[in-house]
Amino acid sequence: MSNVEERINECVRGVREKTDFIPEVALILGSGLGDFADTVEAEAIIDYSDIKGFPLSTVAGHKGRFVFAFIGDKPVVIMQGRVHYYEGYSMEDVVLPIRLMKKLGAQTLFLTNAAGGLGDGFACGDLMIINDHISSFVPNPLIGPNIDDLGVRFPDMSEVYDKDLRELIKNTARSIDIDIKEGVYLQFTGPSYESPAEIKMAKMLGASAVGMSTVVEAITANHMGMRICGISFISNLAAGISKEKLSHEEVKAAADIVAPKFQSLVRKVIENM
Ligand code: HPA
Repeated sequence: MSNVEERINECVRGVREKTDFIPEVALILGSGLGDFADTVEAEAIIDYSDIKGFPLSTVAGHKGRFVFAFIGDKPVVIMQGRVHYYEGYSMEDVVLPIRLMKKLGAQTLFLTNAAGGLGDGFACGDLMIINDHISSFVPNPLIGPNIDDLGVRFPDMSEVYDKDLRELIKNTARSIDIDIKEGVYLQFTGPSYESPAEIKMAKMLGASAVGMSTVVEAITANHMGMRICGISFISNLAAGISKEKLSHEEVKAAADIVAPKFQSLVRKVIENM
């Protein structure tokens, strides 16, 4: 067994010492959206620091814990705080939580993030269904010996973001009067925000939003055959499009404003899954 598999199994054992909750859905809360986990009735809460072998998040505004809860009748594991590549972790660490949540039982991955909008109808505060991504600016998380137990060496990527789930998000948003857009998310490594020239490039490549997470998680989940969906909330217009300088404080403040709308959408989508 590879080191990676041993670590995943160690984390599974760590979680199973504390709860036997079997999630169907894994939900990752992006920057500033973590409060959603405080609105659910938790069946179990496990701090990442209490799981031996689990990578720990250091970013201000990120709590680091799993919250296990029913949303409607769906058993869900919520990641309140994710692990970012820019924190200095290896890609293996960054995607370990995804593999762990799959091993705990989750078949569906619901990704959320805060992202910079690239204009063309994308305004600050908008929500965007991720319909595809560009991963070319970050290392592929599947580099290294393939773990055959998890998935194949060369996974197909022609529909990472499940069409039915995208449709469900669209219809659910409509049913509660939330205007939602759709587009391509591009992941940069961060932690610096992009330069205006990089944002021009991202636009030329066909992206609608940029951020520092999510894509590598989606690649890992796709490798394991999970159903995936994702929503970005546009916390700011990206560098050069926005007249303002960018800051994490701005991202968090925008998240606070969008949070109620975003949280009701996430809840309803999961209930309807
Ligand atoms: N760029 C990258 N990541 C981000 C941004 C941005 O403009 N906003 C929120 N996350």
